[in-house]
Amino acid sequence: MRSKEKWKNDKRAVNAILGTMQEDKHVQEMKKYIQHGTVSTYEHCVNVAKLSYHLNKKLHLKADEQVLVKGAMLHDFYLYDWHYEGDGSHHLHGFSHPKRASENAKELLHVEPEIQQVIESHMWPLTLKTIPKSREAWLVCMADKLVSTRETILNRRKKDVD
Ligand SMILES: [Fe+2]
Ligand SMILES: [Fe+2]
Repeated sequence: MRSKEKWKNDKRAVNAILGTMQEDKHVQEMKKYIQHGTVSTYEHCVNVAKLSYHLNKKLHLKADEQVLVKGAMLHDFYLYDWHYEGDGSHHLHGFSHPKRASENAKELLHVEPEIQQVIESHMWPLTLKTIPKSREAWLVCMADKLVSTRETILNRRKKDVD
């Protein structure tokens, strides 16, 4: 199978796992916030979900797909503009947002503790003591770094062109 088709299949599988979660109004709210450059937090989370799913398949890691994909989709579910420095409350965003995202996921979407752990540990090693404890959590932690690097580089290139 051609790789483009594989990506399409992965996208379909990710959509099937997320189901109605994608349409949830709180999840949709992530479209309002920018993650890197011109990429919204929603788009960033979809990218991390797709890459996590893809790596799991490709590397035969046998992670639980529900926990993996939902954890990836909600890993940055903090629901605020982290660029806003007006009151200075978000200057520790890098350290604090995983906890906030996990609390939102529990309160608004009633996710299980396994998904919360994926969310809470995705910034490791920055959040030193919050280490990923499952293969799902390790995968999302890695996929987030790869996707974030790619989004940041693409944004820099775009700026250079502009
Ligand atoms: Fe994050
Ligand atoms: Fe992220």
